[in-house]
Amino acid sequence: MTSPILVTGGTGTLGRLVVARLRDAGRDVRVLSRHAKDVADGIEYYAADLATGEGTEAALAGVEIIVHCAGSSKGDDDKARNLVKAIKKAGTSPHVVNISVVGAERTPMASGIDRTMFGYVGAKMAAEKIIAESGLPWTTLRATQFHELILLMAQGMAKLPVLPMPTGTSAQPIAAAEVADRLVELALGEPAGLVAEIGGPRIYPMADLIRDYLQTIGKRRPVLPIRLPGKAAKAFRAGANLTPDHATGHETWETFLANQPTAAARS
Ligand SMILES: NC(=O)c1ccc[n+]([C@@H]2O[C@H](COP(=O)([O-])OP(=O)(O)OC[C@H]3O[C@@H](n4cnc5c(N)ncnc54)[C@H](OP(=O)(O)O)[C@@H]3O)[C@@H](O)[C@H]2O)c1
Repeated sequence: MTSPILVTGGTGTLGRLVVARLRDAGRDVRVLSRHAKDVADGIEYYAADLATGEGTEAALAGVEIIVHCAGSSKGDDDKARNLVKAIKKAGTSPHVVNISVVGAERTPMASGIDRTMFGYVGAKMAAEKIIAESGLPWTTLRATQFHELILLMAQGMAKLPVLPMPTGTSAQPIAAAEVADRLVELALGEPAGLVAEIGGPRIYPMADLIRDYLQTIGKRRPVLPIRLPGKAAKAFRAGANLTPDHATGHETWETFLANQPTAAARS
């Protein structure tokens, strides 16, 4: 009998896709998150807060593989630290498969105003380091922004009368499902350290992505160009968040948008 696989953040955009794939592969799955939102039948659920570590240890018993998908805009370094701490306390040595972001190593630690926008990238780099230096077997995959995240941003911006648009910034969005496919492949394989990053098939100016979305919902908005201050913003303008040599994703932004219910309702 194989041991269950723990998916932290298994209720999130990426995590739930990972859980479904692991189940399809015939594996028993445990989900760890703060809230049991939409946890599928037959999944063992553990409520825990990785920001404090509370509840984490209980989820680790008998687990040999952890896919670490729990994340938020702040404190992913603390989450990784608390996860490693709980593993050490449990006295186990599972393979930790970690999801990070493209550009983590190329984006200077944000400070001041750009910390709000780019602080999460610094936290992802710190989380990578904590896992790599933990002495545990590990694998880290860096991915570009998911289509799903760009869609959320666009939906938020569509509510504004004008679109505040960071100048000179592009994105290379990828389907979360394709990232989940790769993560599951890595989780069912041997620990591999830092593996080749994964990016979407095309690079788009940020403004084009948002305009494409507005078009699908039949709206227009004037754009207000904004030059973001700070070193992290400068690194993004230089393309730190892009990986043209690893454009291995297949689903384009256009296809993703066309498959959204709003688009279907209009056609
Ligand atoms: N979105 C992107 O474009 C992108 C790109 C590259 C890498 N990533 C990375 O991929 C991972 C997943 O992203 P996502 O877009 O799927 O995020 P998401 O949809 O926001 O899901 C986050 C998951 O983490 C859980 N979580 C958040 N804070 C937690 C805490 N303190 N303790 C325990 N669980 C917690 C959430 O559940 P609760 O809120 O119920 O706790 C949820 O299950 C993150 O590490 C992110 O940095 C994302």
